[in-house]
Amino acid sequence: MQEVVLPVRVLKRLGVSSLIVTNAAGSINNDYDKGDIMLIKNHISLFCPNPLIGRNMEEFGERFPDMTFPYDKEYIAEVKKLAQRENISIKEGVYCYLTGPSYETAADISALRVLGADCVGMSTVPEVTAAAHAGIRVCGFSCISNKGAGLTDEKLSHQDVVNSCEDSKNDLYKLIDGMLKIM
Ligand code: HPA
Repeated sequence: MQEVVLPVRVLKRLGVSSLIVTNAAGSINNDYDKGDIMLIKNHISLFCPNPLIGRNMEEFGERFPDMTFPYDKEYIAEVKKLAQRENISIKEGVYCYLTGPSYETAADISALRVLGADCVGMSTVPEVTAAAHAGIRVCGFSCISNKGAGLTDEKLSHQDVVNSCEDSKNDLYKLIDGMLKIM
């Protein structure tokens, strides 16, 4: 985890104050489809080894940082306005982190839905935790690359995940480009 969050801390030391994070994720919410873009409004970190464990790096932030809303509310509002202006349809939901590297079982997906997750992936939460600790404002997007395990008859494959992220990339580029202009 220390290695995973190192780049975030380097960015902080370089003076970066805002961060855009993106990931590929499997859907859990039944309204989501492959190719959708989800604006991350919050995340579930319960299954994520906390990257802040160990001696607190006081130079970045406090020992017990608040994590209520790690995704900046102003940025969330701006993305929604931007998406409307650009006619890009987006979802807004909760991302859940699991370590992977195996994909979920169908039962995992049912359980995560009960917990309030809209999609699931294997990244982002460590980086966002370190960013929040360091007072960096975060904006996050998930590319829904596949339906979660058990939601279709298809088996999950990494190649399908990579291919379907290609489909949403142009809309995602537009959103990122628009956000960079106002950050
Ligand atoms: N599960 C976990 N991580 C993922 C998935 C998934 O279905 N799709 C892309 N990353």
